[in-house]
Amino acid sequence: MKLWEKGIGTDKKIDHFTVGNDREWDLHLAKFDVMASKAHAKMLGEIGLLTSVEVQQLLKELDAIALAIENGSFTIEDSFEDMHSKIEFILTEKLGDTGKKIHTARSRNDQVLVAMHLYLKTELGEIKILTHSLFEVLMHLAEAHKDSLLPGYTHLQIAMPSSFGLWFSAYAESLVDDLYFLEAAHKVADQNPLGSAAGYGSSFPIDRSYTTKELGFETMKYNVVAAQMGRGKTEKAVAFAVSSIAATLSKLAMDLCLYLSQNFNFVSFPDTLTTGSSIMPHKKNPDVFELVRAKCNLLQGVPNQLGLITNNLPSGYHRDLQLTKELIVPAIEEMKACLEIMAFSLKQIKINASILDDPKYDYLFSVDTLNELVLGGMPFRDAYKKMGKEIESGTFNPKRNIAHTHEGSLGNLCLPEIREKMRQVMAT
Ligand code: ARG
Repeated sequence: MKLWEKGIGTDKKIDHFTVGNDREWDLHLAKFDVMASKAHAKMLGEIGLLTSVEVQQLLKELDAIALAIENGSFTIEDSFEDMHSKIEFILTEKLGDTGKKIHTARSRNDQVLVAMHLYLKTELGEIKILTHSLFEVLMHLAEAHKDSLLPGYTHLQIAMPSSFGLWFSAYAESLVDDLYFLEAAHKVADQNPLGSAAGYGSSFPIDRSYTTKELGFETMKYNVVAAQMGRGKTEKAVAFAVSSIAATLSKLAMDLCLYLSQNFNFVSFPDTLTTGSSIMPHKKNPDVFELVRAKCNLLQGVPNQLGLITNNLPSGYHRDLQLTKELIVPAIEEMKACLEIMAFSLKQIKINASILDDPKYDYLFSVDTLNELVLGGMPFRDAYKKMGKEIESGTFNPKRNIAHTHEGSLGNLCLPEIREKMRQVMAT
């Protein structure tokens, strides 16, 4: 039975098509739908549309539903269109007319909106914590291996000396940028859309400040039309933040695949982390990092996909918006899984500390060696030419012990400064 059914049923085929997998995604949101229903019920009590006894009864049953969701026994059977219908059904079954009153002054349109905002806020918090954990792993590695050198490349050609300290902390500092995007997405999600009802408000004197406070939102999305237009837009803000982290992770995964190759042999992982081949007995494949790379590349397409759903929709609610759930929920799950597996795997990385002993890396030091000449008084262009001739004639003698001292260079990683940036963004 549909909430809106008035005697004429919907064709089963239509029902199957319009609901699709929505019940599955609603299971991720149901806890937040209940949370918002509790705030809504209390507010209806405050403005006199429910008695205090009715409010108490509703809160008790909603708590029982929350418990069922928590322990996994809450289900949305095919006879229900969505979580909202199932929850209202349970309330009505338990409380009769009181259950039927919960939907006063709201619509599933603002119910799903508020549940999504609460869900996104929670998930952004989790992603932030996981990003921070990966940051910590990278920073520890940077500290531990700050003196181990690594070839730096441009055009994938040997360029200048880099170090494991520089490489690990580069990704750590990049994650700080990603958290700035995460913060922006959090700000967008931290606005209460409840009370916008179907998208145009209600003639009941509802108290939106009450539910805003009750649900812990920083502010409300005042304009009811803007609140409804936030559907898809809020998800896109989150997807952008996720995509930013994903870009960092896919590049790190790519570096790892490259560095793990026998032709590079810069890093290794214990056998428990690599996978074998069914035909080649010697293989230790970096499948984990290849999959992180692919998953994170796909994640960078999600803002686009959300845009494709929402572009060209006029203001107001449209059923198209239902599909935003099946993009954002799995994207969040994938992001968390990638962050977790990266932190887990990187903790076990082993680095090759003597890479640069190989004379093929001598030219990494050409710039540093010529800089010494410049410091000795030779103009840069003359020193460049002299060095070029020595390289051509095979008489180049690299000076390997030259210190890089400026901020952010391999001899001065500024790890405390990077940590401070992270501390600040974590405190917001
Ligand atoms: N499953 C729907 C969605 O996610 C819930 C809102 C339904 N509203 C409606 N007017 N049919 O968008």
